[in-house]
Amino acid sequence: MLFRKKKGTLPKTEELKIPAHVGIIMDGNGRWAKQRRLPRSAGHKAGANNFRTITRYASKVGVKYLTIYAFSTENWSRPAEEVSGLMTLFKEYLEEALRDFMEENIRVRFIGDISAFSPELQALIHEVEEASAGKTGMVLNLAMNYGGRAELVRAARRFAEDVKAGEKAPADLSEEELSRYLYTAGQPDPDLIIRPSGEQRLSNFLLWQSAYAEFVYFDILWPDFRPDDFDEALRIYSHRQRRFGNV
Ligand code: IPE
Ligand code: IPE
Ligand code: MG
Repeated sequence: MLFRKKKGTLPKTEELKIPAHVGIIMDGNGRWAKQRRLPRSAGHKAGANNFRTITRYASKVGVKYLTIYAFSTENWSRPAEEVSGLMTLFKEYLEEALRDFMEENIRVRFIGDISAFSPELQALIHEVEEASAGKTGMVLNLAMNYGGRAELVRAARRFAEDVKAGEKAPADLSEEELSRYLYTAGQPDPDLIIRPSGEQRLSNFLLWQSAYAEFVYFDILWPDFRPDDFDEALRIYSHRQRRFGNV
């Protein structure tokens, strides 16, 4: 587990390798609120604010693709009150994101089954995607009602449909071909996955895509995770040796 950085032991930001694709599992909002004797919803609000800060920062340092895990296929099992609070928060933040990220030249895409959301939220999601479609800066993938397993099931189904329609043959299925049926089609695999909150697991995030991603865990709750900590993740990443099965 990683703790806050020791100053002066690692190279400066300028010397860092910037990963093309970073994934972040935003975790620890509930514990952050609990520490402060606040309702979990207050933690989610603080987490949403931090999402804007870190997204802007990632774009500033030159990350090309940022995938943020905001709501998993398993998160529906939380108490109804928490789920509905999160839905309200998503609506508020998507409206703000419209203004915010437009100025930053960020293209926003959604990964996950958005058909499960209210028609109002779905309309907002489409609005954000369409409004930012022409942006040429960082691509922000927002994983909402996302699960790695659900994504693979969806890919298998879509491929089977294409076989049924005579457009594909079973033998056409390769690793590259399967990747084209994922939400992240056409994007590079994540190089670095960051998980704050102290947990050391994927929780169904980018299962296929993270085959060779570097993982960095932080013992810091997401609302407390600062641009400085993001730098620390970049430093750790820069010191990792990636072998991809080679020697
Ligand atoms: C992450 O924070 C936000 C979502 C999963 C929506 P949590 O709500 O999981 O916070 P903890 O893990 O309970 O502290
Ligand atoms: C993962 O966090 C999902 C998101 C951050 C959206 P969880 O808090 O749901 O994961 P577990 O339950 O600790 O594995
Ligand atoms: Mg959690």
